[in-house]
Amino acid sequence: MRTLIKNGRIITATDNYVADVLIENETVIAIGFQLEVTADKIIDATGKLLMPGGIDPHVHLDMPFMGTYSSDNYETGTRAALYGGTTTVIDFILQKQGNSLQSALEEWKGRSDNNCVGDYSFHMAVTDFNDNTKNEIKHFIEEEGITSFKTFMAYKGALMVDDRQMIGLMQEVKKYGGLINVHATNGDMIDYLIAKHKAEGKMAPLYHYLSQPEITEAEASGRFADMASYTGCPGYIVHLTCEGALNAVRNATRRNQKLFVETCIQYLILDASLYENNFEGAKWVMSPPLREKKDQETLWAGLNQGLVQVVATDHCPFMWEQKLMGKDDFSKIPNGHPAIENRMELLFSEGVNKGKITLNKYVEVTSTNAAKIFGMFPKKGTIAIGSDADIVIFDPEEKHTLSAASHHMNVDYSGYEGWEVKGKVKTVLLRGKVAIDNNQCLVDKGYGQFIKRNKVSQTI
Ligand code: URP
Ligand code: ZN
Ligand code: ZN
Repeated sequence: MRTLIKNGRIITATDNYVADVLIENETVIAIGFQLEVTADKIIDATGKLLMPGGIDPHVHLDMPFMGTYSSDNYETGTRAALYGGTTTVIDFILQKQGNSLQSALEEWKGRSDNNCVGDYSFHMAVTDFNDNTKNEIKHFIEEEGITSFKTFMAYKGALMVDDRQMIGLMQEVKKYGGLINVHATNGDMIDYLIAKHKAEGKMAPLYHYLSQPEITEAEASGRFADMASYTGCPGYIVHLTCEGALNAVRNATRRNQKLFVETCIQYLILDASLYENNFEGAKWVMSPPLREKKDQETLWAGLNQGLVQVVATDHCPFMWEQKLMGKDDFSKIPNGHPAIENRMELLFSEGVNKGKITLNKYVEVTSTNAAKIFGMFPKKGTIAIGSDADIVIFDPEEKHTLSAASHHMNVDYSGYEGWEVKGKVKTVLLRGKVAIDNNQCLVDKGYGQFIKRNKVSQTI
């Protein structure tokens, strides 16, 4: 099967030119100006941008968390991702404390196998690093293709590891060419502040925000960077939100260590004033919380300075009914918000259209850098001969409005209700197949493939 995409403007992390793209089966086999070739299917992309399929390396699908499950499963979540131009996601497996990493993998496979519409991979969250866990790391990197290990410096009592475990894990992961990603906030300080607010009868969502001040993130980010530098292990800070934390990274990277930073779309465009509307603020109860306008400015600058390499979502949706679990106590509101479908269009509209980032930077931070950092490049993350034909055909001019009434995520509200965006995903190809066209999904669950990833030491 050969597909020819004609006359699109190809945007990669480094290029911007008009050309034709020839795809055979799942792979790009030629790129050129007015290619004289035959094809089974021809797509006219005149006036449109052709960009590599988005990669969202931070999503939580069908995840057991805070007494419930995130409301998008592997089918609805990866389908919504495709509608929004994201062709590959990386989800998180959570080790249960006391159990093995392998048993967690089996549990997650039970929910995800044959259920994905788009491509996916896993990070392994290590919540209990001990001699048994230590012996499993090599197997995960070399056999399972799971080369990144998540740690939580918060969520004390459930997911949090201490610094002793962190150092031990870093040493093991470095040995085999993997990477540690981290939720970097100071879990003890946060625990103290939650208990203090509750003792004072302060139960509204606003106190979720006030229990996680900037310093809790700045301190943990710096501490993580120091441990990563000491062990020589590559590190990746997920969902970084604020000036203090980015300054800790800025300082650390003077040592030339491999330390990468992800922010999420919500931290670039939403702010903490949303917590002022009583329980409505629960829609944006996430950890870390939304921050201040000055932090948004820092994050946009961080993208352009190359200090922030990835814009993800931390997609972790809950139905309103689930959010109500915390109506009398902010600490019981399931943490997370939906964005898997909105990331690419929102970042284009708010970032490229408003002149905050270039088109090349947009591709870098929505796709290419994640592919490199997580060992998938050049299979994913670019439009090049030999790469998977994961291509978004994008109309940079079309305006539309985001709403829960029209989105495809399995959640009954939108964090962006009524937002006007300029720029729309029109057609999405995943491994050569037209997956989305004209607001319709043309592939079924089971089409999405598990992507075994390479050692990150090969791509960063
Ligand atoms: O609020 C969030 N971020 N929920 C998902 C779990 C995590 O910390 O990433
Ligand atoms: Zn987190
Ligand atoms: Zn997360």
